Amino acid sequence: SAPSTAPPATVSPLSPGPTVAALLADAQPGDSAVVRGWVRTRRDSKAGLSFVELNDGSCLSNLQLVLPHDLPDFAERATPITTGASLVATGEIVASQGKNQRVELRVSDFAVPGGADPDRYPLQKKRHSFEYLREIAHLRPRSNTFGAVARVRNRLSHAIHEFFQDRGFLWAHTPIITTNDCEGAGEVFTVTALQAAKLAEAAAGGDFVRDFFGKHAGLTVSGQLEAEVYATSLGPTYTFGPTFRAENSNTPRHLAEFWMIEPEVPFCDLEGDMDLAEAFVKTTVAEVRARCEEDMAFFAQRIDKTLPQTLDAIADHAFVRLPYTEAIDLLKSSGESFEYPVEWGHDLQTEHERFLTETHFKRPVIVHDYPVGIKPFYMRVNEPDEQGRETVRAMDVLVPRVGEIVGGSQREEREDVLVARMKAQGIDPASLWWYVELRTYGSVPHAGFGLGLERLVQLVTGMQNVRDVIPFPRTPGHAEF
Ligand code: 4AD
Repeated sequence: SAPSTAPPATVSPLSPGPTVAALLADAQPGDSAVVRGWVRTRRDSKAGLSFVELNDGSCLSNLQLVLPHDLPDFAERATPITTGASLVATGEIVASQGKNQRVELRVSDFAVPGGADPDRYPLQKKRHSFEYLREIAHLRPRSNTFGAVARVRNRLSHAIHEFFQDRGFLWAHTPIITTNDCEGAGEVFTVTALQAAKLAEAAAGGDFVRDFFGKHAGLTVSGQLEAEVYATSLGPTYTFGPTFRAENSNTPRHLAEFWMIEPEVPFCDLEGDMDLAEAFVKTTVAEVRARCEEDMAFFAQRIDKTLPQTLDAIADHAFVRLPYTEAIDLLKSSGESFEYPVEWGHDLQTEHERFLTETHFKRPVIVHDYPVGIKPFYMRVNEPDEQGRETVRAMDVLVPRVGEIVGGSQREEREDVLVARMKAQGIDPASLWWYVELRTYGSVPHAGFGLGLERLVQLVTGMQNVRDVIPFPRTPGHAEF
């Protein structure tokens, strides 16, 4: 048979040639092109042509390849072209007769680096449930929904860095292994080193957990305390990294491992903090809408029909700013019958958040100045109100459907007040001596917040379950892959 002119399976990543996204946007009839990707579907026509939908991950759309059956040894060489197989093809761009596509590739030669046994390949053309796809986390990025989520998450991450870098923030890399429990909620995963010899030593009576670091260490629940160190030395700072919570809650909003963005700003109060959080959410959401048009149209059509409306409300209106005490009054006089009682001093429950954002205001709401009793030690204490109730300068950004996406506060910069609050919460100030010292030397008012990346991805995509917006979700009982 004739020598193969099939394109090589490898190409330099520095000059890979146009992606499917680029070809669909810009290629002209007569251009020659090489594509590399995975087969979504194959259809053979009686007219001696095979039609293959090829996806390379660069966009939601597939490129249609037309393979004439008179290519050398076609029947045999094309046998492994089935759903899921990888395919490299070369040919000429031609105008497409199809309704939804401008161009297609008339293939002159091809190679199949890896087939995919059709009897075993777990992804079929039909729609699979998200529950099923979670069990094949290694293959689900090949589905339309998870490809779109991955691209949006990537673009969002880029927009987040851009937002802070454009405003002169410094990205500080805070540790993953730490000895502090920033939120004081006891949700820290313990870190141990599993060396056989050390284990034997521990079995013989040593305290192994303490041995390696000389102190009980765990995985960080927040980079805030360390971010404060950098912010009070170097100016506006942010962290962006993995965060861990040993929180035994099986909800569509909680993960044991998630990514948190935490800006920290010196010479800033709660009002400045709320301004920053609002600008941050608006800017990053707008950026993704502008840069991921095709994926965003997919989410609006297939995942949540009300998505454009929700996102327009974010773009078009100032976020409502509502003191906690007023939120309680509003909920009490709402006439709604809530499952959980509304009472000053208690945290807002999901049903209360939904009433505020979805029923009452129909847009994001920033609730601020929460009761001291339900918030961590580091938040700045307000003067008591006329009724003697004590609050702290905390704020939560609540959004429709997802609920809380941001939690932040102005920090307590007065050393004596901070130390008193630590003691009141059973935290030994000596265990955080370095944090206290930020108040001993050159203390300044400062503020910051934390935003969970996954909740922002949920907001932007309309995806209901947080397990479906992170590549490999970690939840109670789930860490295999
Ligand atoms: O409200 P949180 O616990 O605040 C802090 O950790 C502060 N130290 C942040 C700061 O001021 N620097 O968490 C902040 C955000 C939440 O609003 C939520 O978006 C996300 O982190 N988050 C989670 N996301 C997924 N799964 C979980 N288990 C989460 N816990 C918090």
